[in-house]
Amino acid sequence: MSTTPRREFLRAAGWGAATMSLSQQVVHAAPNERCVVGVIGPGGMGTVHTRLLASRQDVEVRYVCDVDQSRLEKAGEVVRGASGKAPRQTTDLREILADASVDAVFIATPDHWHAPAAILALDAGKHVYVEKPCSHNIREGRLMADAVKRSGKLLQVGTQSRSTDVVREGIERIRGGEIGEILVAKAWNSQRRGSIGKTQPSDPPNQLDYDQWVGPAPMVPYRSNLLPGVWRWWHNFGCGDIGNDGVHDIDVALWGLGVETHPSKVTCLGGKYFFDDDQEFPDTQYAVFEYPQAKAPANRAKQLIFEQRIWSPYPQEGYDNGAAFYGTAGVLILGHTTGWRLYGPRMKLIAEKTGRVSLPAHHSNFFACLRGEQQQLNADIHVGHRAATIVHLANIANRVGDVLHFDPDRERITNNMAGDALVKRSYRDGHWAVPQGVS
Ligand SMILES: NC(=O)c1ccc[n+]([C@@H]2O[C@H](COP(=O)([O-])OP(=O)(O)OC[C@H]3O[C@@H](n4cnc5c(N)ncnc54)[C@H](O)[C@@H]3O)[C@@H](O)[C@H]2O)c1
Repeated sequence: MSTTPRREFLRAAGWGAATMSLSQQVVHAAPNERCVVGVIGPGGMGTVHTRLLASRQDVEVRYVCDVDQSRLEKAGEVVRGASGKAPRQTTDLREILADASVDAVFIATPDHWHAPAAILALDAGKHVYVEKPCSHNIREGRLMADAVKRSGKLLQVGTQSRSTDVVREGIERIRGGEIGEILVAKAWNSQRRGSIGKTQPSDPPNQLDYDQWVGPAPMVPYRSNLLPGVWRWWHNFGCGDIGNDGVHDIDVALWGLGVETHPSKVTCLGGKYFFDDDQEFPDTQYAVFEYPQAKAPANRAKQLIFEQRIWSPYPQEGYDNGAAFYGTAGVLILGHTTGWRLYGPRMKLIAEKTGRVSLPAHHSNFFACLRGEQQQLNADIHVGHRAATIVHLANIANRVGDVLHFDPDRERITNNMAGDALVKRSYRDGHWAVPQGVS
């Protein structure tokens, strides 16, 4: 899809631009043109995106961008193999953002780059698909929402359960009242992870531009247990497994619970009970979140519970990762990648369904919204920011060891200064990707 007069870029005004109905809003792209995209960070998950995108008839992957030369070349081969056409390769995401022919970017970098890259992309006029958790900290999520509003562009967060039919059906059934009033939901992450060992600083590998990899985060020496993918266990770059696999089920739990605000109270207990290695996040973690009383007619508070054991592959309720919804007239147990069972009074099995999570469906929702064929992104920035905020609040509560009071409107912790300081992060002085307005 190139920038032709056929495309209308009617800027949507006001809050919630990405979720407005099309009658009010914008057609971002002409129906029969191919969407031109760039993939930023084609590593583990980014390669999955690259392969799927390059296989689509309605998409052209014009760029791949990675600061690791070997991954960059591999991504080029993936695109050529799937589409027959080699993409342009770059190590600097700004090259993609400067190209007016690019409609959208897919960001699958480590977490610390999500918000900086997404905000730059939105401000450069690109639509954005960004991996979960959408942010590395609470303030960045708010700045992303501001950038969506400012730009009028679409942003989809990579929680693909939101576009998965089997999950949608389960959630629709309970939101339609099948298990009565739901006041508590629980998400869990139980699986066996490996140790990341203990290392000392060393020279980065030759093929990696480590300075660009660290980007706007404070510079720390390279160590071999940062890569590949292991950065997620370090505070400077990731959010722990609650932000990695946990956030998928947290998002589903929030969806079924029906809360569209942040919690007002949070507590979390956890630690490294199992692994003796460099990981900076808990391997065992329990967090509880209380939502303010809903307005009439329900007029009740609600609760979200999160449990994590990343040393125990034993499932809960039959599912290793999942979400459960406790209602006044039944329970829904939903497995992350497998399906769900719905029980009525006296735990009578009412219905069950199996099915797999669909990443292509999440991509399709994004492109359909760009073309105006669908009206609502399934995981817009508000959805993504609410789920990521749960992750960040749990980690903050665990670090400061307090029951935190959170102001859902101001997005500030009101009873613990050390906790409130962690609502945002520090950045590398003067780096070009530091988001505006972070201080
Ligand atoms: N939706 C899902 O189911 C799912 C599954 C796995 C991972 N993820 C998410 O995908 C993201 C990536 O995770 P991963 O395991 O693939 O990590 P990874 O380390 O394997 O890949 C990240 C890639 O980004 C590159 N990169 C870093 N900085 C860059 C920059 N400035 N410009 C361009 N490229 C840069 C790295 O070199 C690497 O190739 C994470 O946010 C993770 O949470 C999502």
